[in-house]
Formats: sequence, structure tokens, C-alpha cells
Amino acid sequence: MRTIDWNTEKNCIVMIDQTLLPKEYKIIECNTIDSLCEAIIKLRVRGAPALGAAGGFGVALAAFRSKSSTIDGAMKDIEAAGKTIIATRPTAVNLSWGVKRVLGAVEDANNVKEVRLFALDEAKAIADEDVKKNMDLGEYGASLLDDGDTVMTHCNAGRLACVDWGTALGVIRSARAQGKDIKVISCETRPLNQGSRITTWELMEDKIPVILITDSMSGHVMRNGMVDKVIVGADRITQDAVFNKIGTYTHSVIAKEHGIPFYVAAPVSTFDFERMEDEIEIELRKPDELRFFGDHQIAPLDVEVYNPAFDATPMENVSAIITENGVFYPPFLLEEVKIKV
Ligand code: MRU
Repeated sequence: MRTIDWNTEKNCIVMIDQTLLPKEYKIIECNTIDSLCEAIIKLRVRGAPALGAAGGFGVALAAFRSKSSTIDGAMKDIEAAGKTIIATRPTAVNLSWGVKRVLGAVEDANNVKEVRLFALDEAKAIADEDVKKNMDLGEYGASLLDDGDTVMTHCNAGRLACVDWGTALGVIRSARAQGKDIKVISCETRPLNQGSRITTWELMEDKIPVILITDSMSGHVMRNGMVDKVIVGADRITQDAVFNKIGTYTHSVIAKEHGIPFYVAAPVSTFDFERMEDEIEIELRKPDELRFFGDHQIAPLDVEVYNPAFDATPMENVSAIITENGVFYPPFLLEEVKIKV
């Protein structure tokens, strides 16, 4: 199934619980805004485009759960839910984008029934469009890959970070669909291991060759000629920087040092055209994510911890940005990204 979807019989959100992978593949239901927020905070659903869909479906869920019989009451309920959902994770812009897009779609509703109908239609459109955009993006990006390339990636920018297909991994899927032999090196992505738990799992499901390394091995593999290209996703692209999973910046510096192309694959919904890097809040996560590995204590319980979920890669380290509208090269004139090439 898709990473996140709507159950029309129960009128609730369904998603793959990504915290259980690769050990267990389990579909869970979110019947309330509280359970959706818990799922987002715990990373049961994660990855910028998937969060866009979660935000959209979240507003639809709030509309279905609203007990108000008046349109004003229903609107108040969904707006409050939208704020709560947006507050769960501040860095990935797609989350607020998805919430706002669905809130905008219900503005013309005349009654509570229409609020529900319009919200759900828009949320479903976000999900369907995400798949189409990733496949378009994949086609554009595949032209940058050569037969025989080994591509290094970080975190999970695959189908599980999106509704389906993926951004960075979507490019690899599209290139392989074109018959190119592409191999992947996946960085484990400490501290929550999206690379080792999710990227390797979904690539192996698709029989795409993948080798797992620790994040700290990326310099070694790039210096030793084992990487032809790096492709990562993005949580937010401002005028001057790409925000992505912590560790991305380090890979970009090493890639630049060794003349390896460093590509970012992201839909236009990930762009924050108005803002600059220093205006963006980087999510700080709980210290225990570094003090424990699962249930196993790996640091003193009272050690001070700094645990940012994302970092910013300056545009000068980025070789190209791959979107559903085409591939864009430096100097990145973000306004051009809105127009299909
Ligand atoms: O904390 P996460 O797992 O939500 O972080 C995800 C990433 O950093 C991804 O690389 C990014 O969202 C791009 S997903 C296509």
C-alpha cells in the first residue's frame, strides 16, 4: 500500500508504521488528531512529502471528527487542528503546506458536509499528485545518472518518505526502469537510522543493489572513488540553502572536495521561496535518542546532548536540484522552479 492513505470505510488515516521497519511491516490507523500528532512526532510517518500528505489528511480527519453542526464551528475545529499538526515538526515545510492547502480548499464550503467533502478531496489530490510529481521528477533526474553509477544517499528519501515512488530514490528507480545498472550506498543516518532501517529495506524489496555504511564512512568511500554521484532529498529549500537530515551538509562538503556531483531531489512544494536559512527553525529532538539505542543505554544518562534533526547545506555545495518541473542548475533562481522547463 501507499505510505499514507485514507480508509473510506472508517473515515480515518492509515499508514505504514515506519518505526517498526525493517522487523515488522504493520499498517496502523489514526482516528484522532492526537494519534496523528503522536505518529508524526514519533516518526511513524516521516519524510517531507509524506508529511505534506499527513497534514492534508489531518485536516480532513479533523473535519470528519468535528462534532459541530454549524459551518463556523467546523471551520474553527479544523483550523485549530491544523495549528496543532503544524506544531509537531517545524522544519519540513511540506507539513504546513499540506495543512494550508486543504484549509484553503474548504473556504468555499457552504455547510459541514461540504467541509468534509472538500477537505477529503483536496487531501486525496495532494496524495495522488505526490506520486505523479515523484515519477516526473524521477524521469528528469534519471537523465543525470549513467549506466553503472554508484549513488550515495542519506536518510530515506524513498517511497516511504513520500506517498509512493520517492524523490532521491525515485530518481534511482526511474533510472533502473530505463535499464541503467545503478547501485546504491546508503548511509545509516544516526541517530534514528532511517537509512539503515528504511532505505535499505525498501531498496531490497525492489531488488535494487544497496550497500549500508555508517555516516562517518562517507568521506572514506568518496575519497576512494566508490561513489559516482550523491542524491539526497530535502525538507525545505530556502533561497540560500537546502535543509535535510542531519549529516547531509557533511556529505556535501566531502562531495565538493572530491568533485562528485551532489544532487538534491525535491518537489516544488518543498521550496520556501520567501525565506533564507537563518529564518528557519531546526527541530531539536529528545536527548534520549542519543543516550539510548533502542532500549540499550549507550551514554551516561545525564550527559548533555545536542540533537538537531536537520542541517543546512549552502547552495554553493549543490550541483543541481531535481524537481517535477525539471533539473535546475546554479545560480539557482528559485522563481524558475515554479515553471515547467
Ligand atoms: O526526520 P525525517 O525522517 O522526517 O527526515 C527526513 C529527511 O530528512 C528526508 O531526507 C527528507 O524529508 C526528504 S524525503 C523525500
